[in-house]
Amino acid sequence: MPDTNKPLWDLPTRLCHWLIVICIPLSWWSAENENYELHEWLGYTVIVLVVARIAWGFLGSRHSRFADFLVGPRAVTAYLRGRGSVSAGHNPLGGWSVMALLSLLLLQAVSGLFNSDEVFFSGPFYYGASVSVRDAMGLVHEWAFDLLLALVCLHILAVLYHQYGRKEPLLQAMVRGSAEGRSGKAAPVPAWRALVLVLLVALVLWGLLQLAPPPPSMMW
Ligand code: HEM
Ligand code: HEM
Repeated sequence: MPDTNKPLWDLPTRLCHWLIVICIPLSWWSAENENYELHEWLGYTVIVLVVARIAWGFLGSRHSRFADFLVGPRAVTAYLRGRGSVSAGHNPLGGWSVMALLSLLLLQAVSGLFNSDEVFFSGPFYYGASVSVRDAMGLVHEWAFDLLLALVCLHILAVLYHQYGRKEPLLQAMVRGSAEGRSGKAAPVPAWRALVLVLLVALVLWGLLQLAPPPPSMMW
């Protein structure tokens, strides 16, 4: 029986993951359907979740911390050659793919703040940016999404390979916290800390959005 008192993935880490999984297809769908109000709110949600997850990488439970799963190139190579010790959480390669996913998610959402469809909707910082920054952010927003899609496909394929090819219960652990042979090694940090963190990050984002310059028509 897995030790449910010591989950591999604490509740905040799991909630953050599955909320991001909901937000990304909806972000794509809302952009395709020009529902930019929804698109904007989904983007802000992703920013808050990702920034809070990054902070949780320093303050969260043992296996959610970056120190638990980020290892140097030698350890990654050893893992790929089937040697070296592997943490109970993300494997050495998986750890870096987590960082790539989080960075791309942040780049995607932040570039959106400077983006515009030039008809119905502009991100809050569009009017404060120079033309070259606007152009660059427009390209980043487009390309980061293609890259994100590719990485998410790889991520899902890797999860399925471990789950069904190597019979490791990754999915059960990401849903329930732990699974047979996939328990944590320490009690989790209280989840309310994550809530405080999310509220703090949301407050800072709200504060930054207040600094956004108004659209030209509203400037007298
Ligand atoms: C938009 C799509 C997705 C994104 C951006 C994404 C991103 C991530 C990230 C950042 C992590 C690391 C979790 C953490 O430490 O905080 C992760 C882990 C994980 N994801 Fe996803 N994910 C996506 C879709 C999915 C889907 C559809 C599945 C199910 C098939 C899935 C299954 C998992 C599992 C099982 C883990 C834990 C892996 C392990 O045990 O090392 N993900 N994902
Ligand atoms: C993770 C969050 C986000 C995802 C996955 C995402 C995804 C997308 C996608 C797939 C498109 C259509 C492709 C394109 O034309 O570039 C798009 C367009 C757009 N997004 Fe986002 N976006 C996100 C966040 C944001 C945010 C936070 C804002 C601004 C508040 C924003 C503003 C826009 C705008 C204005 C467009 C239209 C661009 C155009 O027509 O050229 N996005 N987004």
